Amino acid sequence: MTWPHYVVGETERMSGLEVIAIDGPAGSGKTTIARALADRLELAYLDTGAMYRAVAFAALRAGTDLGDEVAVARTARDMGLHLDRTSCVVDGVDATLAIRGPEVTSAVSVVAAMVDVRVELVERQRNWVGERGGGVVEGRDIGSVVFPEARLKVYLTASPEVRARRRAGETGDVDVAAVAADIRRRDAADSGREASPLVEADGSVTLDTSELTVDEVVEAIVALLR
Ligand code: DC
Repeated sequence: MTWPHYVVGETERMSGLEVIAIDGPAGSGKTTIARALADRLELAYLDTGAMYRAVAFAALRAGTDLGDEVAVARTARDMGLHLDRTSCVVDGVDATLAIRGPEVTSAVSVVAAMVDVRVELVERQRNWVGERGGGVVEGRDIGSVVFPEARLKVYLTASPEVRARRRAGETGDVDVAAVAADIRRRDAADSGREASPLVEADGSVTLDTSELTVDEVVEAIVALLR
């Protein structure tokens, strides 16, 4: 398995950056919390899930066969991506809404399981953070693979019911049972894949957000930094 060796070599030079890693499953509150935390600490914010979604968008748009790992990885490498807090532009096309849509959402787990796609995006993530001297970085493998030397690693979780309700609220989808089924499918794909599965990273602090407000979670994380 070559992937971890690549990671170790690359991450050594990244230590010293002010990185806060926020990982966890869909609906655990990652995006809301990571954004609020970045505001509070005046750090840059990076949504790495949006990057995997952008690759899925680019592949679907180009008609790339999603079963062809070499072709999807090439799409990832060639992709021009501009991502900020309000927009996502892929190869000059505004993909802000499309990357949250059902087509991309159902394709993204397949794309995110591809090692060469991950190699490309991890490199972009490290460069992005390196250029800014740090940031709050949200994803699935940030504390375990991308920035194992992060100043703080947080693993957010919540009960399956709460997560399904949150996701249903976000998308305006009233069928909570269908959302719950989709979350279970993505949990299984994210946790069961061979390449950088969703795990609680060594040294991470797990916070269950089921019963907490956004402010309470942010305060808890800030307290951990002190
Ligand atoms: O957080 P999200 O739902 O936008 O993530 C989209 C997909 O990308 C999801 O299937 C998990 C995957 N992902 C990943 O594998 N690694 C990351 N660092 C971030 C997201």
